[in-house]
Amino acid sequence: MLKLDYRNKLLRPAWVEIDLDAVSHNVSTIKKYLGDVKMLAVVKANGYGLGAVPMAREIVRCGADYLGVVMLDEAYELRRAGITAPILNTGTIYADQSDYVIDLEIEQMVDQLTVARALSKSAAARGTVAKIHLKIDTGMSRFGLHCSRAAKEIPKWLDVPNIELVGAFTHFPMSDAVDKSFALLQIERIKNIKRQLEAQGIHIPIWHMANSGGTLDLPTSHFNMVRVGLMNYGYWPSFDVRQPFTLRPAMTVKAQIVGIRDIERGDTVGYGRKFIAEKPEKIAILPLGYADGYDRKLSKIGHVLWNGRSLPIIGGLCMDATFVKITDFPEIQIGDTVTLMGEDGDKEISPHDIAALIGSVSYEVISRFGRRLPRVYKRKGQQDSIVNALTGD
Ligand SMILES: Cc1ncc(COP(=O)(O)O)c(C=O)c1O
Repeated sequence: MLKLDYRNKLLRPAWVEIDLDAVSHNVSTIKKYLGDVKMLAVVKANGYGLGAVPMAREIVRCGADYLGVVMLDEAYELRRAGITAPILNTGTIYADQSDYVIDLEIEQMVDQLTVARALSKSAAARGTVAKIHLKIDTGMSRFGLHCSRAAKEIPKWLDVPNIELVGAFTHFPMSDAVDKSFALLQIERIKNIKRQLEAQGIHIPIWHMANSGGTLDLPTSHFNMVRVGLMNYGYWPSFDVRQPFTLRPAMTVKAQIVGIRDIERGDTVGYGRKFIAEKPEKIAILPLGYADGYDRKLSKIGHVLWNGRSLPIIGGLCMDATFVKITDFPEIQIGDTVTLMGEDGDKEISPHDIAALIGSVSYEVISRFGRRLPRVYKRKGQQDSIVNALTGD
């Protein structure tokens, strides 16, 4: 039998630090900027990598009106943790999953009448009503009734019993670029549908469209709710958007050096022998790799920070280890902490910097840091709690 308490412990010398004060600043600032417009905070994908449950708690505490997830499992995780705030699942479900929507007491994106009917049946069996948000496709071609048919089809949905059409929404594929022409066309499309419905006396209470880019740059897309993800965590969706307030980056990825080796001319480092020493070198081993969401493409082109100094990544990244060259810093020791993403001294490696190196976007960089890395939550610079998906209950 195990005798030690494994909860709230940092067993692994690699972790993600999350500044709860930064999240709180970001959410409160965005809320203030929005005024009367409601905010749905997107906490899908483990809260973009920062931890779904702690993010949901902090964000709701700071006044978010709704939480957004994209699958029933994510909604379950929040409900199981005791989060009672309104949740909208913007992801699709199959008709035979409708009981879960009712059981979880969430609102559901629907774009197929068969799913609406299944929800209606499940709701009736429980003596309740299913709250749905109708998705309209104005140009993403992902989910949604196509905008050319929406105004005609929606009235049919109103006859389905035990269904409450709480919201209607669409999504931008490109709200954060300089060229806003397509985004503006999408706004026209959705407004046109809203007008046609209202002319028939159909009034859907909540209309929503804007993501972070739309929230910043497209005020006519706000309607009475926006859906904000990335900005809550402290990052602008691109560098082409307006920056009307300050955001504080909330995520830092750190590791402690677990090994130091002197290598000779001709020695090779890592799988594939990608690094061959041309002279004697000193290298350090970091205990995390691509299975933790640290991209293999960073081999050779990435770097980490040690006391504000840059240490280049060499050799191929392993599943659980990364090599950095420390030849110029003989004072570095086993146990020293390095920063893989975030601020260190007066230097910073942002998710945008990593994204630029690997040909990706900041969204992918932050959301890919895996659950194998413990999350260390900080408030006022002090450790608040540790969430470890492997050792936690
Ligand atoms: C449907 C939907 N709404 C809102 C968002 C939030 O976008 P952002 O993180 O750019 O604010 C997303 C994120 O991908 C989404 O899929």
